[in-house]
Amino acid sequence: MSAREPRPVFVIRPAELSDASALSEFGARTFVEAFGADNTPEDMRLHIASDWSPHLQRAEISNAGLDTLLACVDGGALAAFAQLRADHAPANVPTVRAIELKRFYVDSPWHGSGLARELMAAVEVQARRRGARELWLGVWERNGRAQAFYRKFGFEKVSTQIFVVGTDPQTDHVMLRNL
Ligand SMILES: CC(C)(COP(=O)(O)OP(=O)(O)OC[C@H]1O[C@@H](n2cnc3c(N)ncnc32)[C@H](O)[C@@H]1OP(=O)(O)O)[C@@H](O)C(=O)NCCC(=O)NCCS
Repeated sequence: MSAREPRPVFVIRPAELSDASALSEFGARTFVEAFGADNTPEDMRLHIASDWSPHLQRAEISNAGLDTLLACVDGGALAAFAQLRADHAPANVPTVRAIELKRFYVDSPWHGSGLARELMAAVEVQARRRGARELWLGVWERNGRAQAFYRKFGFEKVSTQIFVVGTDPQTDHVMLRNL
């Protein structure tokens, strides 16, 4: 987006079953764009197969313990999404009523556009609706941009955890903030 173009209006809404196939494609593509250069093709293939099938997206959209929020632009094209997992606390970190921000992805044309901020505001609203008192997430230790983004919203590193991509056990920073 050039500086002269008017900023588009993003519509943020809960995912529906009919979004499963588009979300599957979008989730797989944005994961590969974000992390493909730092992982082996085989580990990426295994991760996409296990986490991004349309079948799994349908199951996750139907899951009452998950909230999947989509940000759409230009008549419906996906620009970003976030997913919350209710009643899920980080291991070995004292919390009162924590909710996990399990996924948070903005398509690269919109990085730095403010869309991520809008989506985070919607995440906070939904987390409070669920009665959560803390919001937490795991972010790869090598993902400096995401860590910087989360720090702007009050997240602080409180721990680490392992996240396996394909066959590769990677270290995530566990970041937490109060709501
Ligand atoms: C993480 C993400 C949602 C953040 O959204 P964004 O629009 O890029 O975020 P912003 O531009 O508002 O903020 C990022 C900050 O990191 C800074 N930054 C950029 N590159 C950086 C780097 N390599 N290391 C550290 N900080 C960096 C930016 O300058 C900015 O800080 P500033 O506002 O003080 O200038 C988005 O980049 C994204 O979707 N990335 C790919 C998927 C991903 O990593 N998701 C998170 C999984 S846990």
